[in-house]
Amino acid sequence: MTTPISTDQLRAAAAKMPRVPLAHLPTPLEETTRFAAKLQGPRVFIKRDDCTGMVMGGNKTRHNEFLLGEALKHKADCLVWGAGVQSNNCRQTAAACNKLGLECHLFLSRAAHNDDIQGNLLLDHLLGAKVTIIDAPLGPELDDLLLAKAQELRAAGRRPFVWNRVTGRPIAAVSYALCLAETLDQTRAKGVEPTHVYCAAAGATGAGLAIGKAILGWQGQVRLLCPIRWPWDTPKDIAEVANATAVLLGVPHRVAAADIDIRTDYLGERYGVITPGSREALDLLARTEGVLLDPIYTGKAMAGLIDDARQKRLTAKDSAVFIHTGGTPAVFAYRDELMGMASH
Ligand SMILES: Cc1ncc(COP(=O)(O)O)c(C=O)c1O
Repeated sequence: MTTPISTDQLRAAAAKMPRVPLAHLPTPLEETTRFAAKLQGPRVFIKRDDCTGMVMGGNKTRHNEFLLGEALKHKADCLVWGAGVQSNNCRQTAAACNKLGLECHLFLSRAAHNDDIQGNLLLDHLLGAKVTIIDAPLGPELDDLLLAKAQELRAAGRRPFVWNRVTGRPIAAVSYALCLAETLDQTRAKGVEPTHVYCAAAGATGAGLAIGKAILGWQGQVRLLCPIRWPWDTPKDIAEVANATAVLLGVPHRVAAADIDIRTDYLGERYGVITPGSREALDLLARTEGVLLDPIYTGKAMAGLIDDARQKRLTAKDSAVFIHTGGTPAVFAYRDELMGMASH
């Protein structure tokens, strides 16, 4: 194993990268009491990355400190970003653009949800982003469309910074290697060495946590719960992003696909569709701790933690940290699904 470095050394390595301050950091780390009592097993802490700011918070605000740092380095005057109509990413990015004086072009796919102006989409409009609704599904087709739109803007004399899956994710992932360091500093200050970190992750966030674990030599398990079935080998993809992140940081640590614990077990039918497990997790955390999950990412991830506790994969010997990656505005867009499935 490559010799680990300390959390301070990791921060020093990341300090060489372009970065703009956007997020409220460090985010709080809260121990659950009534929720953990329901699980009758592990201690459970919540890392409140739903409190990063940028209009209702989330993981992308950490990402954007580095991505928009890169955009400013390239003297961009606008951003071209895209994802689903209820993208938390795009909403946080639109807010960050406003703070930095960049024009924000969003291309939002209606493939995963209806395009009612609610939730994140409502916020995109309130933030004044230039919104175009498209039919391309998330993945390669949407990625190509963004590159083409950026090219059109370039031809018109603009300087766009475009979301690029290959180059963007390793930059974004630096922020989640740092998030792991921040989390471990917080738990250790409480005298706790966590055994597990749980997180909803589909790309950069999971890659950052995975490479953070390798860099810091943390012995616990990073369990990633994936909200989408990608048309590629996800563990291999995340390992590649993680290793590209290590290159950016200038550290020798590497991971293999076999090191990446990413599961789609709690995703259900498909991306964007609420599951009974997600709904149960949302209810349970809201009603025991007053903390709201979202139905598509964090609800499904928490369903994984709850199931692990029920199946005794997590026991009283364990201390788990759940990274709450945000998604709060989506609850408004999912009102019908949430109320239709309500069992109380
Ligand atoms: C609330 C929430 N959690 C988790 C994720 C997954 O993040 P990543 O794709 O960086 O792994 C997202 C991505 O959109 C999200 O909005």
